[in-house]
Amino acid sequence: MEQDGNVIHFISKIENVDFKESLEILAERANINLPTLEGTVDNKRQELKEKIYQINKEAALYYHEILYKEISKPAQEYVKKRKLDNKTLKDYSIGYAPINSNLYSYLKQKGFTNEEILASNLINKVGNNFVDRFKNRLIFPIQDVRNRYIAFGGRVLDNSLPKYINSPENLVYSKARNLYGLNVAKNSNLEKLLIVEGYMDVVSLHQRGIENVVASCGTALTEAQGRLLRKYAQRVIISYDSDAAGQAATLRGLEILNNLGCDIRILQMEGAKDPDEYVIKYGNGRFNNLIDKAISLVEFKVKVLKRDLDLENINDKIKFLNEIAKLLSTVDNRMEQEVYIDKISLEYNISKEAIYAEINKLNYSGNQGKKILDNNYRKPVVIKKETLPEALIKRESIIIGLLLNGKEEVYNQIKNILSPNDFKSEKNKKIIKCLYEEFEKGNSNINNILEKFNEDEETISIITGIMAEDYEIKNDKKAIEDLIKNYQKERLLNRKKEIINGLNDESLNEQQSKELEKELHDIIAKIAHIK
Ligand code: GTP
Ligand code: MN
Repeated sequence: MEQDGNVIHFISKIENVDFKESLEILAERANINLPTLEGTVDNKRQELKEKIYQINKEAALYYHEILYKEISKPAQEYVKKRKLDNKTLKDYSIGYAPINSNLYSYLKQKGFTNEEILASNLINKVGNNFVDRFKNRLIFPIQDVRNRYIAFGGRVLDNSLPKYINSPENLVYSKARNLYGLNVAKNSNLEKLLIVEGYMDVVSLHQRGIENVVASCGTALTEAQGRLLRKYAQRVIISYDSDAAGQAATLRGLEILNNLGCDIRILQMEGAKDPDEYVIKYGNGRFNNLIDKAISLVEFKVKVLKRDLDLENINDKIKFLNEIAKLLSTVDNRMEQEVYIDKISLEYNISKEAIYAEINKLNYSGNQGKKILDNNYRKPVVIKKETLPEALIKRESIIIGLLLNGKEEVYNQIKNILSPNDFKSEKNKKIIKCLYEEFEKGNSNINNILEKFNEDEETISIITGIMAEDYEIKNDKKAIEDLIKNYQKERLLNRKKEIINGLNDESLNEQQSKELEKELHDIIAKIAHIK
């Protein structure tokens, strides 16, 4: 013991750290997990998360304050060139990491441990040195809706590459689940919410009075971001860059938002490459006009279709008619459909009858050649991409969240009621399989689970998303009981449905019917009991 005490003392002296950190350094070298006072991995992770939030906040303030100092001349000139005013810099806590930035010593001074600092990903360990991730970059802190600082984007001050570097995903940051600027935008009128591509677009529009704007930040829009948008706004307006990449991103984003049932409009912009450039060149009045004139998904698709066709050419015209008929038959609402047909007819100089005829042809494909020239056609069955209900995804996420906390007894309870195959989402199924395997191996410290999905960015982002989410599970036991009830009830309801269908089967003999009826009775009683 005395020997240990000496080693710890020695480390604490040469590394200039306190007793607890010396212990941690030793433990890290010996590759063992230190028991925490609270004794659970769960609490430790929660504490680390809190620390990362604190570190991020300190860092954001540090970078922001430096921006006004003498050493930040290049950054000051740059923000001036980009026409950002002081209020905007403050509203978004924009900052600067100088060439010789030493955030590491600042954070040490504030009392954070190496483990905490490295977990924030703001500092990298290179050999024995701690090196700032961001140097000579303009810093855009990313905040979540609760105003916590969760990550950073850093832009070069010139044309060098990479233009931006961003924080990697970690315990508090899930790139796919956050939208840059939502913490600010949520205070504005959210009848509509604009989604743009870049940090600069958000801050630039905001500065010019267009405050209902967020960015998806370098990633293609994800479903989780779509849900976030839908949660806050009635209508989403996509305003991506006008280049080819921006247009492709628009199309993908539209699919996602449309599948989520969002009311979407697409902003059409000419004469500038992005909203920032546009609003600087033409002012906010004209940008607001573009917002008002933003077109619907169907109109946008028609436009995209038309771009590659020459309607003077008869073949192209037939193709155009075919395609718009397909498109229009996916519109559920009859009135809406008629409005589109009127618009298309006017804009592309095609008779309404021709459009209706084409739609009819589609609907009665068995009736080939028989053209029905009125608009009394039957609405086709629309096959929508299957999306899982939000409540179900949430339930599965909670289960994964419970398992990630690494408690053996929780695993045992969950495994009794659920096999990986009970998971409806394929991605969740994969994660659960992996977690079960780790538990079976006796590895209840699942903090290194992310490594198991080395290259699979999407899965990692789902896991970090779950880790970062606060499901506010105050009581594991109660949460598990509720889950068990839910699953039992669901199974019973499914079986009930099966039996009711089965009873309609005329080939059943009396005995079989009786048995089924009895089972049905029992099930109904059980279901009543679960409530
Ligand atoms: P400016 O060019 O300064 O106007 O920046 P911007 O914010 O308009 O960015 P841009 O439209 O070029 O890109 C959109 C977003 O994609 C950025 O805000 C970043 O989030 C992301 N992005 C752009 N370039 C890079 C890059 O080189 N690396 C990474 N990781 N992300 C990038
Ligand atoms: Mn830009």
